Amino acid sequence: MAVDVRIEQLPQYVGQEVRIRGWLYNRRSSGKIHFLIVRDGSGFVQAVATAQDLDPESFALADRLTQESSLMVWGVVREDRRAPGGYELSLTGLEVVQAAEGYPITHKEHGVEFLLERRHLWLRTPRQQAIMRIRHTVVSAIREFLDGRGFLCVDAPILTPAACEGTTTLFRTDYFGTPAYLSQSGQLYNEAACAALGLVYCFGPTFRAEKSKTRRHLMEFWMVEPEMAYWGLDESMALGEELVAHVVSRVLRDRKQELGQLGRDTRPLEQVAPPFPRISYEEALEILARNGRDLPWGEDFGAPDETIVSNAFSKPVYVHRYPARCKAFYMKRDPVRPDLALCADLLAPEGYGEIIGGGQREDDLEALAARVRELGLPTESYEWYLDLRRYGSVPHSGFGLGIERTVAWICGLEHVREAIPFPRMLYHLSP
Ligand code: 4AD
Ligand code: MG
Repeated sequence: MAVDVRIEQLPQYVGQEVRIRGWLYNRRSSGKIHFLIVRDGSGFVQAVATAQDLDPESFALADRLTQESSLMVWGVVREDRRAPGGYELSLTGLEVVQAAEGYPITHKEHGVEFLLERRHLWLRTPRQQAIMRIRHTVVSAIREFLDGRGFLCVDAPILTPAACEGTTTLFRTDYFGTPAYLSQSGQLYNEAACAALGLVYCFGPTFRAEKSKTRRHLMEFWMVEPEMAYWGLDESMALGEELVAHVVSRVLRDRKQELGQLGRDTRPLEQVAPPFPRISYEEALEILARNGRDLPWGEDFGAPDETIVSNAFSKPVYVHRYPARCKAFYMKRDPVRPDLALCADLLAPEGYGEIIGGGQREDDLEALAARVRELGLPTESYEWYLDLRRYGSVPHSGFGLGIERTVAWICGLEHVREAIPFPRMLYHLSP
């Protein structure tokens, strides 16, 4: 009786007969021998069909199999240095589960629009599988890191009554007759959770109705957001850099093969160790000016500006203390420069832009209430948030790390659309 194994387990079964349940990725034939490339989600293996080992019917079937047909194969595991992955299967049996006809994503080149419309099938290709594996490792390394430091995962709601990151990018929906919005960030709820539990994070999807069509923007993206009671800006920045360094080193350790498959030059990633350079907004303006970009004081950076600044460094770089007027309402002012916010963005190298945004929160009731009024935000919706400043307010800080931008950077992708299973973009809601 053949045992059921996954392709990644084949090294443990050399010389034994096994059964693999998967799909046909590709096939070629030399007439006397048919080579089937079978995939099962854990890897790819070449199954070799010969007339000696297979009954005539199965041998003939092996020459007719169509791409992406689901199938079960039986065979003896052989070690073979020439085989991709180092192992192959001498086929002893073959059964088709469902014959796929006319699979649209052939082994030729396809345009990205064509592939995006077929994202449900595109995910099956080796490249997309490699990216999803790396994404998984990024997510698991983040949880491992924060859990190991005593953080508790306390999730935030997705349906919310008010904005966190500005009212212009809200997705509005109807909540039994009152408007509700898809969460832009779990931060405000995180602040409540950190007053209860000290060190917390939330990890979930967030939404921005940003009409930008850039390689860094999605309408729906995943964010991990740690929030720390009694921590200041510097401690929060230190946590962010250690988190990023941990994630990169986990991927380098556990996903070497996938990075290779993506053609990622890993040398820049190997340099990602703390401390990261830290420059002020005003120092960043000087770098921009030296590179021929004269940005007036008070303007936020656009994607090209972030690229210029990050190109001046070989590691991720923190830019801190932006003008308060270009940042969110909840940010605490720098006591020595009240026109600046105690905030910091982490810019990834190689032009990948901002991967972390965060800082210290305004903990003073009067100052925060004034900000809410100044910006014309609906005060009633923020009363609960102001309560956090009424009842045991403490200095606290936190940040959000965008998963897709982090994955795009680590994988060396051209666009964040490949860093999420089903991207939501300006002109893409389907599949
Ligand atoms: O800088 P942002 O807007 O910060 C916040 O939302 C804070 N409330 C987080 C916090 O302090 N708890 O977003 C944080 C990160 C960005 O640095 C970026 O990595 C990612 O989220 N991000 C996006 N990723 C993809 N598409 C978009 N449209 C994104 N907007 C932000
Ligand atoms: Mg930001």
